[in-house]
Amino acid sequence: MNEILLRAPATIANFGPGFDVFALALAGPHDSFRITRREAGGGVGRIIVKITDGGDPLPTEPEKNTAGLAAIHFFQETGVRGGVEIEIIKKMPIASGLGSSAASAVAAVFGLNQLYGTGLGDTEIIEIASCGEVASGGTPHADNVTACCLGGFVIIRSRHPLRIDRLDAPEIPIVVRVRRKSLTTSRGLIPDHLPLARVKEQMAWCAAVVHAMATRDLSRIGEAINRDHISEPVRSSYIGGYAGLKARALEAGALGFNVSGGGSSVFAICPPEKVRWVSEVMNAPLESDAAAEGAPPLVIVTKSSNVGVERIMGC
Ligand code: HSE
Repeated sequence: MNEILLRAPATIANFGPGFDVFALALAGPHDSFRITRREAGGGVGRIIVKITDGGDPLPTEPEKNTAGLAAIHFFQETGVRGGVEIEIIKKMPIASGLGSSAASAVAAVFGLNQLYGTGLGDTEIIEIASCGEVASGGTPHADNVTACCLGGFVIIRSRHPLRIDRLDAPEIPIVVRVRRKSLTTSRGLIPDHLPLARVKEQMAWCAAVVHAMATRDLSRIGEAINRDHISEPVRSSYIGGYAGLKARALEAGALGFNVSGGGSSVFAICPPEKVRWVSEVMNAPLESDAAAEGAPPLVIVTKSSNVGVERIMGC
């Protein structure tokens, strides 16, 4: 096989209280990728990144692009002498906390593994793709990458060594309000320490997410993702009008509401019959929108998905 066409889904990392631990794959949006074998250059692997569609500029230098950096790590880790051209057909909003950079990293490694027949397992693909994430966020976290690779609801049980649990998610209707943040995440502002009382609450909320997911209880899932002491207080402080929007979404029937990954997108979980009302509330302008970078806010109605990165075509 010389060329493979893939698609990789958006993901919601943290999923409420699970900072760097939980993530959920979405049924959309997706990015698509055309990955083509090329001859090796002078180094271990020659890597070309091209971006089509998508209005936002992204770097194409391999070291600065998550797909390119993941490909560099692939060639280093496997010792394969070869090259690759990665065309990213961009549909997902970038730098918005929806895992667009993780999708590129996963697609690159998944595609290279297929093209070069390197036989990497899921854990190895995720490890290598997580290194690609450094090109966008500075830290090789594995939450978005894992959900994008495996689909469903994932738990990063240990980072070194990487240990993952995955549950099939029930069908969870989700409304996402997409809003761009600056290209680096605000991870540096997350506190290093929490008082014990908060740690206990956080543990209870995380346990509640896992229990609700395992029992496939939509209303409990919403309730459990609605609270967080780690990411939400920091990230929401950069989303002017966040508290009011959350309150209005919950009044309109959302079961839970939180920041998606590193923000500035936010998401709400709804019963199916409330999706329309919650979307209308989330479409309303926020005081912070005028100051934010990128396109105006966009509301996407989607749902959870148990499908991760997948091959659409290969020849
Ligand atoms: N867990 C990461 C964070 C996800 O919160 O920074 C980034 O999308």
